[in-house]
Amino acid sequence: MALSVVILAAGQGTRMKSDTPKVLHEISGKPMLFHAIDAALQLSDDITIVLYHKADMIQKKISNAYQNIKFHIQDVENFPGTGGAMKGIKTLHERTLILNGDMPLVSKGSLELLSKGNDDINMSIIELYDPSGYGRVLIDNDKIQKIVEQKDCTQKQLEVNSVNAGVYCVSKRVLDEYIPRLNNHNTQKEYYLTDIVEMAVADNRVVSPIVVKEEEFKGVNSKLDLAEAEIIMQNRIKKELMMSGISMRFPSTIYIDSRATFEGECMLENGVTVIGACKIIKSHIKSHSVIEESHIENSSAGPFARIRPRTKLINTHIGNFVELKNSTLYGAKAGHLSYIGDSDIAQGSNIGAGVITCNYDGKAKYQTKIGKNVFVGSDSQLIAPVTIEDDVIIAAGSTVTKDISKGSLAISRAPMKSVSGFFYKFFGKGK
Ligand code: UD1
Ligand code: CA
Repeated sequence: MALSVVILAAGQGTRMKSDTPKVLHEISGKPMLFHAIDAALQLSDDITIVLYHKADMIQKKISNAYQNIKFHIQDVENFPGTGGAMKGIKTLHERTLILNGDMPLVSKGSLELLSKGNDDINMSIIELYDPSGYGRVLIDNDKIQKIVEQKDCTQKQLEVNSVNAGVYCVSKRVLDEYIPRLNNHNTQKEYYLTDIVEMAVADNRVVSPIVVKEEEFKGVNSKLDLAEAEIIMQNRIKKELMMSGISMRFPSTIYIDSRATFEGECMLENGVTVIGACKIIKSHIKSHSVIEESHIENSSAGPFARIRPRTKLINTHIGNFVELKNSTLYGAKAGHLSYIGDSDIAQGSNIGAGVITCNYDGKAKYQTKIGKNVFVGSDSQLIAPVTIEDDVIIAAGSTVTKDISKGSLAISRAPMKSVSGFFYKFFGKGK
């Protein structure tokens, strides 16, 4: 589609009360600006992002995640405001969609609706019971006249319930002719993009109102807005997954990152948290487990499992209070209370309760390799780097400090002693 997109993200976002720029605050694991970019990428190959506050930081973050995004630094000193943001921008296509960087919930479908047709301006409108904070859209005889910012409204204009949602699709000639003519003759002494509407009306150009959904176009300005947007985004993600065959027990207690993917029939029990780009295939995640940046396939985990980044579980069972990190388990079991880090565990091996891989000596991390059919007895410590070959038995309570060869038994324990009658000698007979 021959459409350019400009995303306005130069504002400071003071109401966030944060050192992090507003548009980098995350919703479902992604900065809210990325949600806007993702929606834009579905419609356009020419995307420009307008920055000013913390521009370097934001630009770096975007460039690490996306290619072919253009940046424009607004001259905020001389041209503050949403109209100032558009000054000097060069777009490639005949029509340009202008979005705000703080609208993470806008869907591709709504943007398509806003960019349809050939009118000079399509503008987004919402009808609000409480319009406060928004620019009011003045309509006369079914025709849009102009947009008046709240701070510039007369008492009567404040009562208007039709508000500007802040997204527009405009023709090239609107940008070329009207942006240079904007002025800052208003209460805030800013260059308002919204003034292009009045200019277009004066030139008898067509300005079309497109009524959009409040839920999608509400701007995120505070941490309260952020939390509310997160709930909406989570509901969307979970609804889509459930429709695709993923079961969820008490979905309102489950958190799923927008980058996570699922395949086949999966079950997520209550309280499950999925963080980052996890891939979960035909697996059962039991209650209160936390999974981060991991691949889980034909496996079950939890309740209360903690699966940290770069873990791969295939045909594996993980039980309660087991923590895994950067480990691959293929056809293995770890039923209870373990820490398994930087490890590789092969088919048929069983990790007993309380087993710890000691992967860190205070300076560096080391690997533990466990072959096939290894039985690691409960409460053993495996001091990495260490390799345990196939068909090994490690006796419970052992501290493994050396590699173990195929087919062996390893046992390291202080010999047990039993002293008969000691209890009575110590406490006396009367007890
Ligand atoms: C704007 C509209 C208002 C509309 C509302 C919808 C104007 C003048 N007003 O008001 O009619 O109801 O959005 O949410 O456009 N930005 C810049 N550079 C700037 C100022 C802002 O890039 O100098 C960016 C911000 O980062 C933000 C977007 O533009 O992403 C909107 O700015 P904001 O200050 O939130 O505009 P509102 O006052 O809410
Ligand atoms: Ca706003």
